[in-house]
Amino acid sequence: MTSRSWSPELYRAALVFAAEAHGGQKVPGSERPYVTHPVEVAAELCAAMLVDPVSDPDLAVQCALLHDTVEDTSVRVEDLAARFGAAVARGVAALSKDPTLPKHARMGDSLRRIRDEPREVWMVKLADRIVNLSHPPSYWTDEKIDGYRVEAVEIADALGAASAVLEARIRAKILAYGRR
Ligand code: NI
Repeated sequence: MTSRSWSPELYRAALVFAAEAHGGQKVPGSERPYVTHPVEVAAELCAAMLVDPVSDPDLAVQCALLHDTVEDTSVRVEDLAARFGAAVARGVAALSKDPTLPKHARMGDSLRRIRDEPREVWMVKLADRIVNLSHPPSYWTDEKIDGYRVEAVEIADALGAASAVLEARIRAKILAYGRR
């Protein structure tokens, strides 16, 4: 595959939109502005795309920057479709848990919907979990940390085929996770 870069303009537009949507939210357990989280996810993804090229890097970076806007803010899937197009809106919708389902069923449902989307969307979910495995919030219990690790294995098994480099990254993070 010939390697194509992502558009800095589209990156910036998605970043500004996400920053405004997340407003004063903080990364849980920290004083960091929440928008630093999607930026970390986009950075993880951009690094991976240099090694594992994708056919639509713009879809990947926009979904990375916007991935929590529907789940965590008042932004609706329709708003994303109007502003960023149908493919980005579908990708973010798949990356968002369905709050009408029982809690235990939400991740499996989201993973099934992600698997119906292009590989770029699978890679966003892998990158998201890689970032979140870097440091459990300080207030989490051992039980919560164990559950998060089990869920990460589920994500790696369901989506790892999308990117060898991200699969290696998430498996390494899972091994190191929660060691205090
Ligand atoms: Ni996230």
